[in-house]
Amino acid sequence: MNITILGGGSAYTPGLIEALMRLKERVPVDRLVLMDVDKRKLDIVGALVQAMVSRKSPGTTVALTTDRRESLAGADFVLCQIRVGGLAARRLDERIPMKYGVIGQETTGPGGFAMALRTIPVMVDVARDMEELCPDAWLINYTNPTGMVEGGIKARSNIRVLSICDIPAAILYLVAHVQKLPVNSLRLDYVGLNHLGWVRRIFHGGTDILPRLLSMAKFLNAIPQQLIPSSIIGVSQKDVNEILKVLRLAKVLGVLPSPYLQYYYLTDEILKEQSRLSKTRAEEVMEIEEELLSHYAAVSKGREVDLWKQRGGDWHADMMVSVLSAIANDTQEEFVVNVPNGNSVRGMDPGAIIEIPCKLGSQGATPLPLEQPEPWMLGLMQVVSQYERLTIEAALEGSQRKALLALITHPLVPSITTAERILNDYLKAHKEFLPQFK
Ligand code: G6P
Ligand code: MN
Repeated sequence: MNITILGGGSAYTPGLIEALMRLKERVPVDRLVLMDVDKRKLDIVGALVQAMVSRKSPGTTVALTTDRRESLAGADFVLCQIRVGGLAARRLDERIPMKYGVIGQETTGPGGFAMALRTIPVMVDVARDMEELCPDAWLINYTNPTGMVEGGIKARSNIRVLSICDIPAAILYLVAHVQKLPVNSLRLDYVGLNHLGWVRRIFHGGTDILPRLLSMAKFLNAIPQQLIPSSIIGVSQKDVNEILKVLRLAKVLGVLPSPYLQYYYLTDEILKEQSRLSKTRAEEVMEIEEELLSHYAAVSKGREVDLWKQRGGDWHADMMVSVLSAIANDTQEEFVVNVPNGNSVRGMDPGAIIEIPCKLGSQGATPLPLEQPEPWMLGLMQVVSQYERLTIEAALEGSQRKALLALITHPLVPSITTAERILNDYLKAHKEFLPQFK
């Protein structure tokens, strides 16, 4: 099996490789190709990956390249985690709306809109290259905004693609950890769009344990205590803050919202927080990344190769690799992934991309029977899904009119005037990455 990682120079890559090595009985890899446009990061991360692989899976060859087409030729699976414009572009995505009193976030609101405009055309190019160079390969996409990227690719190509997010998996890991249960003994009843969904039930065997979890004050208090001393590898202070907000919201809603719903349900509070902080998340992540890169460089030269630190939680890499294994081995295991609605949710366009539990096998994702979302969930899904449709079309057509309509439609943008200002700023700031808008 040949696996190509686009965005292979990412600080997430070593975690991904570690997870692949853990699964090597089920996913034996002959050749691993890391591709990245950033040669410096590719060389640093690549050296660590080569050291890890030569110790744990000596039969696997590792190649590094900055040439995308070369990396795709002969691939069976393409894992994609690119960031068009890098963290510098993410910083602008976050900073620009904040100038106008609007939430500045990587994937939610105007930030996700700008990211989609830059990313969708590149992902369509990846799909076109795959049609030519590895037409039978699967693209497992982690690149954000993952739902809109999935929609953009599906609009222009018939390659086999599956877009995933680690939030549902993270919730499963967390509950399993706190309840001391094996993670594969739990199942989620989840409905929504990517980064806009609700966990309605958590099944252990046939029983829904969510009501009990939510009513247990002990559970609510246990979470921060268990997590703050980082008893789960990879849970950061950022995660802990999010978990606390999610639990507050859950008490009101009766279901567990995705952490990204805080931007909708706690808008005023988050705006205040954002205006107080000196750094945006992109600015923090830039520092985290530089630290990790120098750590990787040091570790791969020394003897303690196994001691490298992760960029994300275990669940992040595990989910990516388990999805790959489910497809490669046709296991029909259950995962929450992004798929076209078809007729799963009544009142949503058939082509809208939704995030729901599916069975995964060699044919891809088969949606499981789904209970309809409550009307207050459906309403938000419909509005945000219309914003997503307009954004995808704007990205593909280079249409400024659709881009403006998309922003106006988004619930976090308060007026046409603000939408115009944000759009103008983005078109100027990201000019180099938005060739479709002449
Ligand atoms: C979660 C989301 C990802 C997102 C990440 C951002 O894992 O599911 O889609 O990329 O958070 O984390 P960061 O550390 O970059 O802010
Ligand atoms: Mn995600």
